[in-house]
Amino acid sequence: MKQKAAILASGRGSNAQKILEIKDSLVNIDISLLISNRQKAACLNLEKEYDIQTLLISSKNLSQQEHERLLLKKLKEHNISWIFLAGYMKILSSYFLSNFYDQAWKQNKVINIHPSLLPKFKGLNAYQQAFASNDDHSGITIHFVNSDVDSGRIITQKKFAKDKKDSLDDFIQKGLKIEHTLYPQVLKQLDQALNSQRPEELFK
Ligand code: GRF
Repeated sequence: MKQKAAILASGRGSNAQKILEIKDSLVNIDISLLISNRQKAACLNLEKEYDIQTLLISSKNLSQQEHERLLLKKLKEHNISWIFLAGYMKILSSYFLSNFYDQAWKQNKVINIHPSLLPKFKGLNAYQQAFASNDDHSGITIHFVNSDVDSGRIITQKKFAKDKKDSLDDFIQKGLKIEHTLYPQVLKQLDQALNSQRPEELFK
């Protein structure tokens, strides 16, 4: 039986869209829900184009605990066992994450994409941080999520060059292009690792 997955996103949803584009090719994962915490998030419109149920669970005026309680209730109702964060702008508590801990994986089954070569440039505005640095390259990281921000086990990373002539926008566009291939690629690898029941295959 397929394992159910949800995408959590807060904004534009370009990564969510790329994930939805490959959704039907996955054999062991059923991405059945997209949840946003922001009413105006463009990602909520993806329901019109893709076979996905979207839900708004607004975090407005709620404490982290109150919001996560609502989120967990929905995720449980839908039997969600995997979460793919795609531009989700809320930090998840260790209590929330512990609900998705898996013995076999020795991880919380929560995956995130971060636009830097972690451990460099954690947190907000990672593209801006990397662009402002003296580094001549940056990259994209896909990692498991633990209770420290942008610090969970790294699944994969891909570098890209920062050219002297790049504007911040050029730089971000280069990164986004990589994001859009890397996340689908990792989810296909995850799908295969679930098939063979060998979590280590995901990290090759
Ligand atoms: C991406 O750059 C992602 O790496 C970061 O937030 C941004 C979300 O963009 N975590 P989008 O909503 O997927 O277009």
